Amino acid sequence: MTGSSPDEALRQELAALRLSIAEHNRCYYVLDDPVVSDAQYDRLMSRLLEIERAFPELLVPESPSQRVGAAPLAAFATVRHAQPMLSLSNAFESEDVRAFDKRVCDTLLEAGLLRAGELAEYEAEFKFDGLAISLRYEQGRLVQAATRGDGRTGEDVTHNIRTLRSVPLVLKGGYPEVLEVRGEVLINRRDFERLNQAQQERGEKIFVNPRNAAAGSLRQLDSGVTATRPLRFFAYSWGEIEGAGRSGLAGLPNEAVRAAPCATHAQMLDWFERMGLPVDQSRRVLKGAEGLLEFYRDVGARRADLPFDIDGVVYKVNALAAQEVLGYVARAPRFALAHKFPAQEETTLLLDIDVQVGRTGAITPVARLKPVFVGGVTVANATLHNEDEVRRKDVRVGDTVIVRRAGDVIPEVVGPVLEQRPPGTTPFIMPKNCPVCDSAIERLEDEAASRCTGGLFCAAQRKQSILHAAGRKALDIEGLGEKLVDQLVDSGRIKSLADLFALNADELADYDRMGRKSALNLIEAIDQARRPALSRLLFALGIRHVGETTARDAARHFGSMQAIMAADEASLLAVRDVGPVVAHSIARFFAEPHNREVINALAQAGVQALAVDEPTGQRLDGKTLVLTGSLPNWSRDEAARRILAAGGKVSASVSKKTSYVVAGADAGSKLTKAQELGVAVIDEAGLMALLDA
Ligand code: IVH
Repeated sequence: MTGSSPDEALRQELAALRLSIAEHNRCYYVLDDPVVSDAQYDRLMSRLLEIERAFPELLVPESPSQRVGAAPLAAFATVRHAQPMLSLSNAFESEDVRAFDKRVCDTLLEAGLLRAGELAEYEAEFKFDGLAISLRYEQGRLVQAATRGDGRTGEDVTHNIRTLRSVPLVLKGGYPEVLEVRGEVLINRRDFERLNQAQQERGEKIFVNPRNAAAGSLRQLDSGVTATRPLRFFAYSWGEIEGAGRSGLAGLPNEAVRAAPCATHAQMLDWFERMGLPVDQSRRVLKGAEGLLEFYRDVGARRADLPFDIDGVVYKVNALAAQEVLGYVARAPRFALAHKFPAQEETTLLLDIDVQVGRTGAITPVARLKPVFVGGVTVANATLHNEDEVRRKDVRVGDTVIVRRAGDVIPEVVGPVLEQRPPGTTPFIMPKNCPVCDSAIERLEDEAASRCTGGLFCAAQRKQSILHAAGRKALDIEGLGEKLVDQLVDSGRIKSLADLFALNADELADYDRMGRKSALNLIEAIDQARRPALSRLLFALGIRHVGETTARDAARHFGSMQAIMAADEASLLAVRDVGPVVAHSIARFFAEPHNREVINALAQAGVQALAVDEPTGQRLDGKTLVLTGSLPNWSRDEAARRILAAGGKVSASVSKKTSYVVAGADAGSKLTKAQELGVAVIDEAGLMALLDA
């Protein structure tokens, strides 16, 4: 191709390629709905590059090939916004929203834009937690992009914005002569995690949150760097608009609004969308304060599931004519309101870093914080995971730290506010000895965790292993909580799991916070646990690397505890999905004399795994049944065994979570309770039907 001059056919092919690639970008990055495969897209792109390389004179800045970044800048130029970039008034309470709506209605009534008794109409959308950007299009071409700055002047980031594939370089038809689009640049949470991971691997700066990462990525002099960052853009407003025809709101003082072929904010955003700009799909047109509050609640409930961070919602009076009448105060429009969610990030003081000992001896550093209200709850503790994590974040006692709690996720310490670090702080050092049993703490080379080497000598490990064994997925002993286990272990009453089965109600009732009734319930729950499915008993032992699934596979494979205990590593490898590490761990566990003793002691205490481990079906999977009264044919044990074998659970007490109460003759208070709570009550025949179903 080189050497000759481009003929008309080639020019046309080039134009068609550019259009089609731009359209595919829009489908992929704006609509989230690609219509071609990556390979097809790549073919179009390489053909485009081929032509542009052969005929550099045909290169234009709007070409989709120009998204890879340009030569680095020496400094950012300043840009004066044609129309100032405003801020929003904030509301935190429902009352603020009602007051806003009332002010709007009063003004619109007076101006004759609303009738008495009529509700005001609003457009409601997300308040994106990113960076405000203004994009300037002239004759449909992106000519400038600027940050908000102080609202009047910002920084020229055109070279960087060009690399965002969701920002059209050329608008689709129906655009005005000049259009300033306002919107937000942000990074999806998942992309943010990936970016940070990559940054860490390269030993580069870790960003504290997606907004920070978006800001850092946009304020790059080298747009080649920005091009590698997963930035997204959403349009939500506008600045200057010139010459879109006079079909709009002729007669209004605002040039911008007059130029637009729209009468409402919602129509403006629809128009933006038609021009190929990304606009979020959660926007709604609503009426009245209660409509707004419902939107707030709905979005609030979805907040944690959204792909990106939002810090609230924004309400805008929908009719542009009404916006005009309402006007502005100071730097914010009177026609709009930001309704903020409770902050998901706050700063507080890091008072101390403690270490906690887990079931397998793993030592977890825990941040003790000056209590802070964040994400709707008060947070005083947060896990720091492990030594490396504390080092990576470099949080130190005395630091002011950023604490984050998003949705129902456990709170985390994001990092220190370095500007506020007091003098004399020191980096965290993992203690050499266990804070509970004083045994040495060791850290194996290829592991992130440090461990207490005390094993079951360590009271902390003993407590955790008993709690694990009593857990829902193991022996499922209801009513055996942390406080009681603390007391039982600290008093020396319980040394191993087997001791649990020797407890009686009288002695239990003497412990703190134990009434007679809860003691009796607990004894009954412990009694029920004497007939566990083999897989549950195996899981309850807390063998390293043996989770629920492995326990189930091993139980199915061997059929009895004796067989598993007798198995060597080679035979263990025959279990589905069991590799050398797991096989070794199981064999080592059972080779340990004190572990064999615990199992013997369990057998002595009457704990015997059910031979039928594998539920004959999963007919009662996830169901909890309570037995009460005497059944005509089956003993209670027999009924319980069959329920367990069908994948169900048997509980000693009735609650809202109970699936069925099986009532026999002389059923007592459990039957009454079931009727009160509206729990289904069946008889033995009903149970048999369930089991056969
Ligand atoms: S409209 C005419 N809409 O919030 C009003 N702003 O506090 C101009 N923001 O700097 C702003 N989401 O960065 C508007 N849906 C949204 C927004 C939004 C986020 C940001 C924007 C602005 C700040 C104002």
